[in-house]
Amino acid sequence: MCGIVAYVGTKEAYPIIIKGLKRLEYRGYDSAGVALIRNNELQSFKKQGKVSNLEEFASDADTSGSIGIGHTRWATHGAPNDTNAHPHGSESGDIAIIHNGIIENYDSIKQELLRKGYTFKSDTDTEVLCYLIEDIQKNTGVKLGESVRLALQQVHGAYAIVVMSKNEPDKLIAARKSSPLVVGIGHDGDFYLASDATPIVEYTKKVVYMEDEEIALLRPGEDMKLYSIDDVEKTPYVQELEMNLEVLEKGGYDHFMLKEIHEQPRSIEDCFRGRLNATDAWVSLGGIKDYEQKMMNANRIIMVACGTSWHACLVGEYLFEDLARINVEVEYASEFRYRNPIIDENDIVIAVSQSGETADTLAALELAKSKGATILGVCNVVGSSISRITDAGSYTHAGPEIGVASTKAFTAQVTVLTLMALSLAKKKGTVSDSKFRNLISELEAIPAKVQRVLEKNSKIEYISEQYKDADNALYLGRGSSFPVALEGALKLKEISYIHAEGYPAAEMKHGPIALIDEAMPVFVIATKGTSYEKVVSNIQEVKARKGKIIAIVTEGDEQVTAIADHVIEIPETDEHLVPLLATIPLQLLSYHIAVMRECNVDQPRNLAKSVTVE
Ligand code: F6R
Repeated sequence: MCGIVAYVGTKEAYPIIIKGLKRLEYRGYDSAGVALIRNNELQSFKKQGKVSNLEEFASDADTSGSIGIGHTRWATHGAPNDTNAHPHGSESGDIAIIHNGIIENYDSIKQELLRKGYTFKSDTDTEVLCYLIEDIQKNTGVKLGESVRLALQQVHGAYAIVVMSKNEPDKLIAARKSSPLVVGIGHDGDFYLASDATPIVEYTKKVVYMEDEEIALLRPGEDMKLYSIDDVEKTPYVQELEMNLEVLEKGGYDHFMLKEIHEQPRSIEDCFRGRLNATDAWVSLGGIKDYEQKMMNANRIIMVACGTSWHACLVGEYLFEDLARINVEVEYASEFRYRNPIIDENDIVIAVSQSGETADTLAALELAKSKGATILGVCNVVGSSISRITDAGSYTHAGPEIGVASTKAFTAQVTVLTLMALSLAKKKGTVSDSKFRNLISELEAIPAKVQRVLEKNSKIEYISEQYKDADNALYLGRGSSFPVALEGALKLKEISYIHAEGYPAAEMKHGPIALIDEAMPVFVIATKGTSYEKVVSNIQEVKARKGKIIAIVTEGDEQVTAIADHVIEIPETDEHLVPLLATIPLQLLSYHIAVMRECNVDQPRNLAKSVTVE
């Protein structure tokens, strides 16, 4: 959460920073701000709300200058208002800082500074760090880079920061711990800094992903200097970005979310490309190959994640247990890490995360690692923190996901977990050859089937119109369709603000059935398979209480079609792969309902895409 962008060089910094902040707005949009140095004067522009508010606010101001820092905020300490917006200044106003993360011991540092007579303007932890940097400079006379290093030695918590001073107007000092930070090395001796590579890719493909407790000193025309927090000089590892600009644009769609929903035939295919072959009957995930034996011998596999990624893990649990007969437990990362879980070196912990930066998931992995477990990752963002701390892992290759509500990342996560389960099942001999071949062929056919579901968009839009004013909704499913129900409910509540709950269909009669009346839409995944007849009975129970049924059914279904208020057909596939298809209409339903309710689809209130705080 929070996005940071900075530039130093010969170009105008302000337009580069504003454009970059817009790309990072998915990380938070409570406020935005920019600080610039021009003619040895430091000037800040800050505004509550989105980057566009800031732009309007600064539209008549002189925003020239070739060094600057910018921030888009997801509030942690202090209300989302103009004062708490970043950049924050030091007491004299000579130094400015942007920060993503949390300074956990900010209060004790603040008390110390208050005792020295400082007065603070904001309620933020970040301002305290900026004052500390200035206090160190005052007391020791050291330069900016050294005072930042000394200040960070006193700090506990997570940070990605960029600092500049009007007294040293030709340099940016950047540092990170637990929050991401990328340095772009420009073609003209200039430097770009951002929370991820998306604001940078337009200008250069040469990047350095900073590591924990590294400090960078960036001066135009000079090589990037990198130090550890203990002041040991390091050699920056320069990587070539593979991302291109087109994938960061909306490409003709009204919203990123809609674009990303429609990208799923391609993103699922990209995810399994080169990793399976139906004719020769193999599945191979290069990243985890060396760990498969260990996975097969493990006491159990624990999957840790948050939100949508947690739902993908629940689907993974069904697949691993049913196909590979491996015991799997799925844990909320935030609960797991604080529960003193029993883990040892025979356990395998797999973290699933789109961003690869989710603080709780990262901390859960660190805990598992400290107890000797093997830690693996399933991430979308290449080079992310989780992908770097894990022993091994598989990328989902879904491409950048900009919409805050996760869509294509979910189906790509489920695809990777399916590939893992299949590969382990084949090695363990827990699936027959014919079943294995059949599953691979079915998986290969999924992108075309997803496309067919997407073609039902007009019907789904019509159904959305009927339920857009609902106050509540229930989502039901059984087996691996239960996590799909959870995911459908999460999508609806997060972007349309309608209260929605997902339940295993049979659990409905243990409580939620009391909620059902003629105003309650009930979305049911009722595809052909093991529990079909049972789900039909659950649908009857809802109908008997006048609830409205919107059912996801297999093409050609007659039984549910006869009793449901609306059906959305999906192509027939193997039962194990149903989540990949059944999720799509639920994503589209949420999307259309949110648009009809005039909600901000790509940036729902109070949310941020990359949750880098606990
Ligand atoms: C919901 C959503 C969130 C994320 C969760 C974990 O649409 O996007 O629930 O799934 O914050 O994020 P990652 O996958 O980046 O760890």
